Amino acid sequence: MDISKSQAKSVSGGGKTLVVYFSHSGNTRSLAQQIHERVGGDIFEVVPVDPYPVDYDAVVAQAKKELNSEYKPALKSKIKDVGSYDVIFIGYPNWCNTIPRPVVTFLLEQDLSGKTIGPFCTHEGSRLGRSATDISKLCPQSTILEGLAVRGRDVGNAQNQVSAWLQGLKLLK
Ligand SMILES: Cc1cc2nc3c(=O)[nH]c(=O)nc-3n(C[C@H](O)[C@H](O)[C@H](O)COP(=O)(O)O)c2cc1C
Repeated sequence: MDISKSQAKSVSGGGKTLVVYFSHSGNTRSLAQQIHERVGGDIFEVVPVDPYPVDYDAVVAQAKKELNSEYKPALKSKIKDVGSYDVIFIGYPNWCNTIPRPVVTFLLEQDLSGKTIGPFCTHEGSRLGRSATDISKLCPQSTILEGLAVRGRDVGNAQNQVSAWLQGLKLLK
């Protein structure tokens, strides 16, 4: 399992926290790590069994093909005890205005009912697109918090944005 060994801590006013992310070219990984540093708890990378092509045009073509399909790519590992988390941050690159399919697999494989979900994404102009709406459709029994959107090229300087977002959500440890 790609879960960090760090001891799960509590965010202020909440319970055990998990940061989950999928990243193709590293931007969302960087943002996820910054959020994890601020909120503590565990971190888990969603990794599809079949990697996406590195070539930009090829991955865009594949993502477009997958968009309106029922495709749920198999993931390399699964979180064993998602029930022990109260707040779950879910991060992803905006792909074609929504969540990449590996994130769909993650959301469908896990029972996130009763959980609080904090969506965050990196993007190149479309911000969250319809990703938060699509997450709420896949997780109708979860509470979806206001999401964070950071431009890919700005992830290196996103500390203030991350802090303001977490403060707004009252989720800073
Ligand atoms: C397949 C694909 C589709 C994308 N679609 C969008 C989009 O609809 N809107 C947008 O703003 N950015 C889009 N992007 C840009 C990515 O969201 C952005 O580069 C992101 O920071 C990549 O994150 P990563 O490095 O974690 O993979 C797309 C990128 C890829 C590869």
